[in-house]
Amino acid sequence: MQEPRPWFSPVVEHIGGVSVRELVQRFGTPLYVYDAETMRRRREQLRSFEVVRFAQKACSNLAVLALMRRWGVVVDAVSAGEIYRALQAGYAPEGDPPPIVYTADIFDQPALELVVRHAIHVNCGSPDMISQLAQAAGGQEITLRVNPGFGHGHSQKTNTGGEQSKHGIWHEELPRCVELAQRLGHRVVGLHMHIGSGTDLEHLAQVCQAMKRLARQAGTHLRTISAGGGLPVPYRPEEPELDLDRYHQLWEQTRQEIQKQLGRPIRVEIEPGRFLVAESGYLLTRIWSIKRMGRRLFYLVDAGFNDLARPILYGAYHPIAVCRQEGNTQAEPMEEVSVGGPLCESGDIFTQSEGGFVTSRKLPRAQVGDVLVVGVAGAYGSVMSSNYNSKPLAAEVLIYQGKPLLVRRRQSLDQLVANECVPEELLQEGSA
Ligand code: LLP
Repeated sequence: MQEPRPWFSPVVEHIGGVSVRELVQRFGTPLYVYDAETMRRRREQLRSFEVVRFAQKACSNLAVLALMRRWGVVVDAVSAGEIYRALQAGYAPEGDPPPIVYTADIFDQPALELVVRHAIHVNCGSPDMISQLAQAAGGQEITLRVNPGFGHGHSQKTNTGGEQSKHGIWHEELPRCVELAQRLGHRVVGLHMHIGSGTDLEHLAQVCQAMKRLARQAGTHLRTISAGGGLPVPYRPEEPELDLDRYHQLWEQTRQEIQKQLGRPIRVEIEPGRFLVAESGYLLTRIWSIKRMGRRLFYLVDAGFNDLARPILYGAYHPIAVCRQEGNTQAEPMEEVSVGGPLCESGDIFTQSEGGFVTSRKLPRAQVGDVLVVGVAGAYGSVMSSNYNSKPLAAEVLIYQGKPLLVRRRQSLDQLVANECVPEELLQEGSA
């Protein structure tokens, strides 16, 4: 039986049992709200996988990381900032499996420093990383990220395999990189592949074949294979749910075959971001204007692509629901509307398809002051927000055990300019 999916309903009045009206009154808009219970259910669905590593880039709020840690989920970090977050959220730097793995194609100075200081496990996506790590820290246990020569994602921009992609070590170069690693005193204990985000079972299955082929070339210390992330979630009611049993079976088979081939125990990791958090997240935004442009009706709201960039970046679809101010729960009459934000840029539209074409939705008729609830916004929502148009970053609330907990304060105008300064020279009177 399918569990309820409130995010697909045209009217959303409660999130995790808490009234949307109350949330908006208490915390203001735009507001990100995460329902911990939905996250927990997704985590439970992955119980058959031995190691689940959260790709925190999808939603890296410290409270979300703390939840994942409590639920036995380890974490991936792609920057110094993400390593710092993981440590702040209570992850230990070292352990087996490594609680934090730094996965990237390059180091930068801050990342290299943190990796060395805390002995963070590194998943190297380039030969340069292999040698730079050896130089900075001597021989280490490392993972190699391999680009298997193919990839697939929900958009060309989220495809991370093949010759178009900058990610990972090209599969044909794996033997050379294993040799390099050995020469520098590293032990290659892991092999990792992530072919893209928002892909499908057919493509995910191809990774198993590539992993079997490449595991033979990884040397004698291999103990972990990582399937990467990419597990899709439905953004529209008609989209299928991922067949998790099948996905698990595929990797279990792959694990057993590699184990047999190499004659020692092998562990499988998966590295989902979206799957764990997407459906738990909502963006609440208030309608400030309703206006017509010829035949098109626009609802203009106080969240823009500074808060949720996925529509403008990928033409991504997010379900949108109405929460009327007065508590009128009737869904009719429905109206065909386009939804836009406050930014001074015409692409600031939540209802658009790839290429920037404005589309429309059938939504229950709303008024200025009503709230729109943008669903499936927990992954790559808040984390991709910006200060464009000098808009402060939204507040974030976590519904935990029926209570709304503030997990990020709204950025203030003072914080917005806190790191800027006007040099003395410019403050002096007179012209240059
Ligand atoms: N592992 C690696 C190495 C990754 O690069 C990613 C995502 C993941 C895991 C997690 O993928 P997921 O399970 O979330 O699909 N901003 C885009 C998604 C970019 C994903 C980047 N890497 C979006 O909004 O769809």
